[in-house]
Amino acid sequence: MSTELTPILTRFWDAPQSWRLETYERNEGYQALRSALQREPGELVQEAKDSGLRGRGGAGFPTGMKWGFLPPPDGGPRYLVVNADESEPGTCKDMPLLMAAPQFLVEGMIITSYAIGCHHAFIYLRGEVVHVYRRLMQAVQEAYAAGYLGKDILGSGFDLDITVHAGAGAYICGEETALLDSLEGRRGQPRLKPPFPAVAGLYARPTVVNNVESIASIPPIMAHGATWFGGMGTERSKGFGIFSLSGHVTRPGQYEAPLGITLRELLDMAGGVRAGHELKFWTPGGSSTPLFTAEHLDVPLDFESVGKAGSMLGTRALQIFDETVSVVKAVSRWIDFYAHESCGKCTPCREGTYWLKQILTRLEAGQGLPGDIDKLDDIASNILGRAFCALGDGATSPVSSGIKYFREEFEMAMTTPVDVSFPPERSTLFAKESVSS
Ligand SMILES: Cc1cc2nc3c(=O)[nH]c(=O)nc-3n(C[C@H](O)[C@H](O)[C@H](O)COP(=O)(O)O)c2cc1C
Ligand code: SF4
Repeated sequence: MSTELTPILTRFWDAPQSWRLETYERNEGYQALRSALQREPGELVQEAKDSGLRGRGGAGFPTGMKWGFLPPPDGGPRYLVVNADESEPGTCKDMPLLMAAPQFLVEGMIITSYAIGCHHAFIYLRGEVVHVYRRLMQAVQEAYAAGYLGKDILGSGFDLDITVHAGAGAYICGEETALLDSLEGRRGQPRLKPPFPAVAGLYARPTVVNNVESIASIPPIMAHGATWFGGMGTERSKGFGIFSLSGHVTRPGQYEAPLGITLRELLDMAGGVRAGHELKFWTPGGSSTPLFTAEHLDVPLDFESVGKAGSMLGTRALQIFDETVSVVKAVSRWIDFYAHESCGKCTPCREGTYWLKQILTRLEAGQGLPGDIDKLDDIASNILGRAFCALGDGATSPVSSGIKYFREEFEMAMTTPVDVSFPPERSTLFAKESVSS
């Protein structure tokens, strides 16, 4: 555990024009690429494996091992696709990173592409974030102009093109195989696995799909080495990560720290829960990870410890809710989202999220029907493990954990509207007086 921040990807976000190539170059930018191009591609894959870097997109799959799953080259194309869809409620680390320091991703993509033998890489970006799209396009253009992209990069003989693709704003298109279908121009729905993308991904060719932060972490790892990276974090969750604190916290924002830090330590650095209030519940990794409460303040935020405590590290989206917030209402909003974003391909998720929404809507209004709470739990446990992709499983997390820790609130909502028991004006971030003064 640590009480120190480790600003690496975030270290010059406050610099003037932090997003420009020249700023990045002044901060070690592209030095990792220069030395990587002198090495054998296989050595870079091994370095990524040795670092212990695990995917930062949620599931935590070892990145180097994923690269190693690609079959031997057969002369045909192989692709790197970066997942920049970031659409989960609460998750907000990739977009700030792309706005503040996009060259980390571009350099990481060039090194990764060289390591896996890819000559055309893609960034699949969430559709709504037009400002990020513009910034990424500018970053890619700057990299072309400087000779880091295109033909014969830095005289190495290695060629790479990057295409930035804006999706149309669907959460399911963050699921890696739905993303690939969408990128190919089809409706974004998950594919049956196997075959996995490493074998038959984009255009049925071997493909690596990685999260923005995973690939952005590659230049520092290659510049400083696997041992340096492994010196941070815990034994099985190595390195640093961006923790996004949002909600009822004094100083919300991005806190880059070693994995294994606790919420208590992060809250200390962020000025604590807003003045005069106390922590009620929080998500460790976005809306698809089971809720935690104040009793989990000292759980180390690494993959293993969070799992052992009954949740998931996910995307380290720490959404903080104080005692003014109704759990029923928060869960209901999340389920509105999941019901809306369910792609409809499989019955448990399509129908189940619809029924969860019906019940939560009447509980919010204080009009529960006998047996509603058990029915919520029952529907959630029937979706879990039976859905075609992880969106369905994720939708059950707030429901099951909400009932587990706050059943009495669900009981109360059977007869009392949540806006009566939890007046919404109490949970707004700024009291009226402080806004007007
Ligand atoms: C519904 C759904 C949405 C997802 N959204 C994202 C996303 O926006 N970004 C992301 O990197 N991974 C997302 N994932 C996880 C991806 O499927 C995949 O595991 C990830 O991109 C792999 O990258 P990593 O190994 O670098 O973490 C999502 C998964 C699901 C089921
Ligand atoms: S779980 Fe939901 S999002 Fe995933 S395939 Fe089934 S319907 Fe679509």
